[in-house]
Amino acid sequence: MSRTGRRSRRVGMTTILVTGGTGVLGRRLVPALSGRADVRVLTRGTGTVEGATTVRGDLETGAGLPGALAGADVIVHAASSGFDRRRPDRDVGATRRLLEAISGDPHLVYISIVGVDEIPLPYFKAKFATERLVEESGLPWTILRTTQFHDLVLMALSALAKPPVAIVPRGIAVQSVDTGEVAGRLAALALGEPAGRMPDMGGPRVEGLDDLMRTYLGAVRRRRPILRLPIPGRTAAAYREGRHTTPAGATGVRGFTEELLSRVRADGTLESPAT
Ligand SMILES: NC(=O)c1ccc[n+]([C@@H]2O[C@H](COP(=O)([O-])OP(=O)(O)OC[C@H]3O[C@@H](n4cnc5c(N)ncnc54)[C@H](OP(=O)(O)O)[C@@H]3O)[C@@H](O)[C@H]2O)c1
Repeated sequence: MSRTGRRSRRVGMTTILVTGGTGVLGRRLVPALSGRADVRVLTRGTGTVEGATTVRGDLETGAGLPGALAGADVIVHAASSGFDRRRPDRDVGATRRLLEAISGDPHLVYISIVGVDEIPLPYFKAKFATERLVEESGLPWTILRTTQFHDLVLMALSALAKPPVAIVPRGIAVQSVDTGEVAGRLAALALGEPAGRMPDMGGPRVEGLDDLMRTYLGAVRRRRPILRLPIPGRTAAAYREGRHTTPAGATGVRGFTEELLSRVRADGTLESPAT
């Protein structure tokens, strides 16, 4: 039975547990929630997070999860171990551990990626499997898939532009989306009723990586030839077909170039996190 329908909430301020609250997305999500809910962040670290209570815990071991989950009305699950070549399904195990530790029926909000069911990358397969876990958890749930965040695209361009020749995969475009806008959307979903699978969200434009590289090199004032490298294989083909984009879901407003220019210092270096 679907548990995504309307349900009654406890009276008073909603308590929201954010996993991944210290990450690229989480650092934007917590301020978007704070003041509108009691925000709690699960972290393996010892630092504090402004606008939230931090609870030390680890989704790999299950440590700290009961305390982090106690009394949570909503869980925004944004933690990820990223791509681990040796254990690509780490996030599946971590999510299973999270689900096993939940008592009651909090609203579970999961952030996923456009095309996880169509691009045969191990990380995407794990995200798709994690979506299934969320949907079959028996809890009320909401899933939002988005395209790549500006931060990630910027990091990728920065790495690809390091050698004397900037190499970009030929024929691949991205629909980079503003991380703050994703955080805003996720916050609204977390504060709303469980809604199931939401329409995909993407940035305002689908832009060729070669064009973005040209923009990037200009912004950081670096001269490099750009080599468009043909990449064989099913994964690259799926990217060329744009399976990771959502032209119909181009609800993002702030484009990649605005993000890039806002980060460039007078000397052409970039503000963190991308360098
Ligand atoms: N990047 C993109 O372009 C993009 C696009 C669409 C969707 N997404 C999804 O958005 C989510 C957030 O991505 P992001 O780029 O913000 O990630 P990120 O910056 O790499 O942050 C990862 C977060 O996960 C937490 N974490 C990792 N392992 C953990 C563990 N074992 N126990 C507890 N916490 C753990 C980390 O917390 P501590 O280190 O503090 O423990 C950190 O806050 C991911 O699910 C990702 O797949 C990303």
